[in-house]
Amino acid sequence: MKIIIVNDARDVGVKAAELVVKEVIKKKNLVLGLATGGTVIPFYRSLVGLVKNKKIDFSYIRSFNLDEYVGLNKKDKRSFYYFMNKNFFSKVSIWMRNVYFLNGMAKNLDVECKEYEEGINNIGGIDLQILGIGRDGHIGFNEPGSSLKSKTREVLLSDITRKDNVKFFSGEIKKVPKRALTMGISTIFGAKKIILLACGEGKAEIVHRFLHGEISEEVPASFLRRHKDFIVILDKEAASELKN
Ligand code: PGA
Repeated sequence: MKIIIVNDARDVGVKAAELVVKEVIKKKNLVLGLATGGTVIPFYRSLVGLVKNKKIDFSYIRSFNLDEYVGLNKKDKRSFYYFMNKNFFSKVSIWMRNVYFLNGMAKNLDVECKEYEEGINNIGGIDLQILGIGRDGHIGFNEPGSSLKSKTREVLLSDITRKDNVKFFSGEIKKVPKRALTMGISTIFGAKKIILLACGEGKAEIVHRFLHGEISEEVPASFLRRHKDFIVILDKEAASELKN
């Protein structure tokens, strides 16, 4: 495991984007695992900038997103698909047929999850997975209690997660979906390289816990400490409790 501490949220994004570009230069048809959330916005901004300035060819990239809410369609501004399209897909020359996304509107959610998991396996697995972390230690939407063996599946969101996301649902908690589809911990752990980003004071406590506490289902991100190629990029605020 490698921990990189930089100044602020913007620098976290820049560092992560540089690492992604390095991998894309090595492998043109890299399989990327992508994340959504406030933390990764500067990352996508930097990545788009680097791809354009350095003329990086993104047309062979394949991507799988981590998760999606149940019951929101692609066009809904609060869906993760919409987020990805706005912040990334629409800004780089990626072939949309190589963009894989969980469909939270699928008729049979179990089949949807099973096929997604198979899709990842059939393509040869994820080369590089980008992650944020929730204040409850979740990765993707694997909330506390998620097993290391978990695969892509439907999950219930924790109260903390729903509260943290209420800002995207006009402040009305009842509008925040209660269920989501997410890659499992074993799906994420199967990635060849994993980069987790965390920014801000609000993440300081969970960053300390996942890096120094017990490795357990109570803090799903803690499992990543056992991964052989795991990089954590933090800003000073998110790293502030590591000194204690
Ligand atoms: P955030 O979400 O970047 O909006 O804090 C991270 C996550 O929940 O994984």
